[in-house]
Amino acid sequence: DIKVHVDQPTVELSPHLYGLFFEDINFSADGGLYAELVQNRSFEYYPIPGWNPLSERYHALSSWEKVERDGAECEIAAEKGIPLNRNNPTYLTVAIRRAGQGAGVKNQGWSGIRLDEGQEYRVSLYSRWESRRGAPLTVTLVDQDGHECGSAELPASGADWRQAEAVIKSDRTTDDASLVVTTTGRGKLCLDMVSLFPSNTFKGHKNGLREDLAQSLADLNPKFFRFPGGCIAHGHSLQNAYRWKDTVGDVAERRPNWNRWGYHQTYGLGYFEYFQLCEDIGAHPLPVVPVGVSCGFNQPYQCVPLDELHTWVQDALDLIEFANGPADSTWGKVRAEMGHPEPFNMEFVCLGNEEHDTPEFAERFPYFVEAIRKAYPDIKIIGTSGLSPSIPLYRQMQRLNVYSSDEHYYESPEWFVQNQDRFDDFDRDAPKIFVGEYASRGNRLVNAIGEAAYLTGVERNGDIVDMACYAPLLADVHNTQWTAANLIHFDKRNLVKTPNYHVQQLFAQNKGDVFLQTEIDQSVDEADLPSYAGAVGMGTWSTAAEVRNAKLNGEPLDPADWTPHGGKFNAKDGALRQADRDAQGVISVSTAEAPAKAVYEFEARKLGGAEGVLMVFGC
Ligand code: AHR
Repeated sequence: DIKVHVDQPTVELSPHLYGLFFEDINFSADGGLYAELVQNRSFEYYPIPGWNPLSERYHALSSWEKVERDGAECEIAAEKGIPLNRNNPTYLTVAIRRAGQGAGVKNQGWSGIRLDEGQEYRVSLYSRWESRRGAPLTVTLVDQDGHECGSAELPASGADWRQAEAVIKSDRTTDDASLVVTTTGRGKLCLDMVSLFPSNTFKGHKNGLREDLAQSLADLNPKFFRFPGGCIAHGHSLQNAYRWKDTVGDVAERRPNWNRWGYHQTYGLGYFEYFQLCEDIGAHPLPVVPVGVSCGFNQPYQCVPLDELHTWVQDALDLIEFANGPADSTWGKVRAEMGHPEPFNMEFVCLGNEEHDTPEFAERFPYFVEAIRKAYPDIKIIGTSGLSPSIPLYRQMQRLNVYSSDEHYYESPEWFVQNQDRFDDFDRDAPKIFVGEYASRGNRLVNAIGEAAYLTGVERNGDIVDMACYAPLLADVHNTQWTAANLIHFDKRNLVKTPNYHVQQLFAQNKGDVFLQTEIDQSVDEADLPSYAGAVGMGTWSTAAEVRNAKLNGEPLDPADWTPHGGKFNAKDGALRQADRDAQGVISVSTAEAPAKAVYEFEARKLGGAEGVLMVFGC
């Protein structure tokens, strides 16, 4: 029995429950949330030795190939002679001996570019000619069969870099297109910042985000958005710590970097775009600022010498000015020139990420706290302290009286169930708690249930647990570094919301203002349990598909036991079908008997050659 005393509120729940944590891991940014369709658009990829086999194979022409149409002869190369700007030193050259029907280059995006019939795409590039007269360029979107889905002509440039743009409408839907740039001119053509965006980005922003992925974040009703990491915030080493100033201004002038997770980041999705997304989805921005100590998981980690720390502290102060300063302040002006004269109203700053075992962090952290409090007394400072009371760093957070302290855990579902009373005895006068990263190492229903149990403890302690967010958020199914669990899985056309996502949504969309006194009587006679509390299985997909011949432990299951949720299912001829390729669906099965072990089998097939993802979870 559960008794809820509606007349006995215990604590008020934090207005900041619940939120999101986004990090560029699992190709979440370039090739994921960031809607750019061209990979290595500025030819700044380079190998990252000693990291992983994939990263060692990167080079300036990664993802590019030369194109020689009937009779053409050319060579392509990466050069640095007369760069577009100093942050973008490398560009591509096409040395054309014979132009034939067109010489040039093609890009296949992330293993093929997704196009949709009737959709418009904005192409833009910089070009110049190292020959006396330039020639126009043709940009074509070509599918795997050689079909030209759409094309545009760009005017000739001269000896200086010049940007050109056009809109191309695709006449086909495909996931395997290439962007081809050719010319019938002769001589040496130079190209840089070759870019292609769909026009239907989230909220229609230029340099915007993939609509379905951004919408799936908005649908979680987030109250805050922690970014850009995680480990990429403090960096694998100090060389690739996330320095926000590299990520704002004209995208052609942002200084790209390699990512702590082993690939490259263009920073096209940078601090302005993050703030803009927060505004679009109504979430408080929670930037994580590095404090000059690199990732402790990589030994030896690096630290900024104390006598050089002031530039890092100044970066933190300048970030607040970029977000909140007037449009005529130094950094507020940069924001205004990017199209946002009004402030972004940043209220919180997170200092550091998981530097629990590094004494150098404890040494550097107070410099940031002091400088921020002096210049911006209203900004709330969020520190970091691991499993809070047991780690000495937590005492420093208490001494410095920060607003809240960030703790992370990736544990088993059982751990989450057993620790749902974790905060019951926490000191109410100490800094609040920010559960900045957590997941129960799996995307099965049992994981989601473990996390749900934990969140009941978070709500019971909603006066002290100020914020909580699951991690990691996004994973490209073909490029996943963090294999334990991720909230949303995607490929270039589909996304799948895990059971864990549905738990996040359930809590975020139904949060009360107060917690009500609750009594749970566990002395239930099993005979009283409803007969449907038997075996439960669950599957989810985002495409047109059909499931039939379901069996439990080898015995056929009655289709009446399958229950569809969401999606647009219908039952036909003993099968469950979802005919709409764009619908998201979940099915669950419940049976009268609860066997000790349940093995489900069923036949599932996509319908009508539909693209999509079908995932099966069991519990
Ligand atoms: O969420 C993945 C990683 O886990 C984060 O980058 C880091 O903070 C944690 O160790």
